Amino acid sequence: MKNTPHLELTQVGIDFPTPKGPFTALQNVNLKIKKGEFISLIGHSGCGKSTVLNIVAGLYQATTGGVILDSKEVNEPGPERAVVFQNHSLLPWLSAYKNVELAVKQTQKGRSKKEIKEWVEHNLELVHMSHAADKLPAEISGGMKQRVGIARALAMEPKVLLMDEPFGALDALTRAHLQDSVMEIHAELGNTVIMITHDVDEAVLLSDRIVMMTNGPEATIGEILPIELERPRNRIALADDPKYNHYRSEVLKFLYEKQRKVESVSEHKAKKVQDKNTKETDVA
Ligand SMILES: Nc1ncnc2c1ncn2[C@@H]1O[C@H](COP(=O)(O)OP(=O)(O)OP(=O)(O)O)[C@@H](O)[C@H]1O
Ligand SMILES: [Mg+2]
Repeated sequence: MKNTPHLELTQVGIDFPTPKGPFTALQNVNLKIKKGEFISLIGHSGCGKSTVLNIVAGLYQATTGGVILDSKEVNEPGPERAVVFQNHSLLPWLSAYKNVELAVKQTQKGRSKKEIKEWVEHNLELVHMSHAADKLPAEISGGMKQRVGIARALAMEPKVLLMDEPFGALDALTRAHLQDSVMEIHAELGNTVIMITHDVDEAVLLSDRIVMMTNGPEATIGEILPIELERPRNRIALADDPKYNHYRSEVLKFLYEKQRKVESVSEHKAKKVQDKNTKETDVA
């Protein structure tokens, strides 16, 4: 089961309409993901990572190509694909418990009241948030809100968990703690994860493969780096591991050597397109 390819992006591209004409953010994005794989998407700011995630979530429609999940085309959001946004999008008037419960009620309609309660409690427990179940989002820290967001997504029992820089705004200790929780949960539940990150260590620590994106416009997958480190992984033991450090430097090289060059070329190209469009607009 673990080796069955179940999520496939084929020739995915997207044009956004802009006042200066269509802007091709992504082009020819091809990726096959196995069930239970943990994929990180990494790339410079603005390259199109969130756009890829939003297309898989069904929030954006690809202009070319498409996404297939377990033989079904993705063209709208669905409960089998839960999203954790960077800016922990909890409903502010509901307690942590109620936020999770709402997602459970919306997605698991067959459960009895007792089963719902147990399931909500179980998921809050997974992220170590049971003690603050009755608190409102305004009464808990950013890291705690993020944990509730993760509990809410997990409680939906998604086949695919999509996370857009889930730990981006957190301090280093909270971030490390949550990374460990996510690794444990992933080992336990075995769901497929796509996570966007800017953090090279985070990508190497958590991923089965790191998907590195080229700079936009017309961004695509530049390289894919398989991370063959045994699990469970321990951040302290890995710090001195030559394989870990090799992977780390491969990602750094991609980002700061290979893509830095392309960045200037593509920026130049983008500017040329922009100048051309401006002239055309001016003429019109
Ligand atoms: N709705 C939209 N309309 C027009 N352009 C968009 C839209 N959404 C994204 N873009 C453009 O597409 C490109 C990719 O954006 P995206 O948000 O996917 O980048 P990102 O890699 O997630 O960046 P960051 O790391 O800063 O979050 C950017 O140039 C952005 O301006
Ligand atoms: Mg983004």
